[in-house]
Amino acid sequence: MTKLDIPFGRPWIEDLERDAVMEVLSGHILTHGPNCHAFEEGFAKMMGGGHAVSTSSCMASLHLSWMDLGVGPGDEVLLPAMTHVATAHAVALTGATPVFVDSELTSGNMDLDDMAAKVTAKTKAIGIVHYVGIPIDMVKVMALAEKHGLKVVEDCALAVEARIDGTHVGLFGHTGCYSFYPVKHITCGEGGMLVSKDPETVKRIGEFRAFNYDRSGPGPKVPGLYDVKGLGMNYRMSEMQAALGRVQLTRLPDIMRIREANFRALQSGLNAIDGVRVLDSGEDRLKSSFYCVTMLLEGDLAAKRNDIALALNERGVGTSIYYPHPIGRLRYYRDKFGYDANGFPGATAIADNAIALPCGPHLGVKDMEDIADCMPEVVTAI
Ligand SMILES: Cc1ncc(COP(=O)(O)O)c(C=O)c1O
Repeated sequence: MTKLDIPFGRPWIEDLERDAVMEVLSGHILTHGPNCHAFEEGFAKMMGGGHAVSTSSCMASLHLSWMDLGVGPGDEVLLPAMTHVATAHAVALTGATPVFVDSELTSGNMDLDDMAAKVTAKTKAIGIVHYVGIPIDMVKVMALAEKHGLKVVEDCALAVEARIDGTHVGLFGHTGCYSFYPVKHITCGEGGMLVSKDPETVKRIGEFRAFNYDRSGPGPKVPGLYDVKGLGMNYRMSEMQAALGRVQLTRLPDIMRIREANFRALQSGLNAIDGVRVLDSGEDRLKSSFYCVTMLLEGDLAAKRNDIALALNERGVGTSIYYPHPIGRLRYYRDKFGYDANGFPGATAIADNAIALPCGPHLGVKDMEDIADCMPEVVTAI
């Protein structure tokens, strides 16, 4: 059998991106300049509303969001057990206590009943993650948050273009945080975007992102003169990154068209196989970003996850795992906060029994058919 050539992810970079970065390097403004502003405006326009500020990463955006909300020691923040460690680190850095919520197994998103059950008198906020770009129902999340007076931050790292009833994710909570790491929908190499419906929030966080300089004082605007009105970070994006991001934004309609077609093709191929189920939102009003195809192995196949992933790699099919552990099982979190090994059956099933397959624009429907075609043989050979 000929070996396939289907990498998990590959950034879509062409001369347009190379030229845009070179143009920045031929000028004199290398950071927080016109490209950053234009990228922010372009991103907010793509979102169809709200305001945006560029940052150095999604984790930086998350950290800024929690700092802005004043979350800290003594506060509990509900987070999904099934997420990237950045989601939890951003909360733990503030001194607040992350309290993990289990996943439901249709979409991989936070289980809303478990979320409600974990609210205590100390709960200050909920950190939502749209698992692999499949939106959680934010209408229900916001109703729970309002009932208990909780703030909400949305981690949209893998959720560019995901929508709920037509509204982009990231515009429901206090802020939404996006990532431009290389395998994401669009890339800046590294980079992030923070969005909010509230212009004041974006302005405040924009200042906090850049040392919290205050240049609004009286007197002449002498270069280099500033005051500082509070603690701050240096979480800015460079002009080279923003120039790259601006070009990537123009590719987004093509990227989404290809991702959805690929996702649907592989989803139907895989769902036809016994013991394999693809995670999806389960509702048309919750529109995915089609980041990857998460194949949950059930029954006898479940225990063979690692062997099946390695066999796929052997055939030339790139795979990944989103994510390798419920966060509480990671050594740092286990040692610091303790871990109930039986408390997260949904998140544990995904961590231990799921494989993420690619559907990015570096691939076509024929690649998806090739993956689905080789799967029955791969699973029976194990
Ligand atoms: C859900 C989630 N949040 C945050 C991140 C971190 O993003 P960044 O590398 O831009 O900080 C990732 C990375 O994959 C992620 O999957």
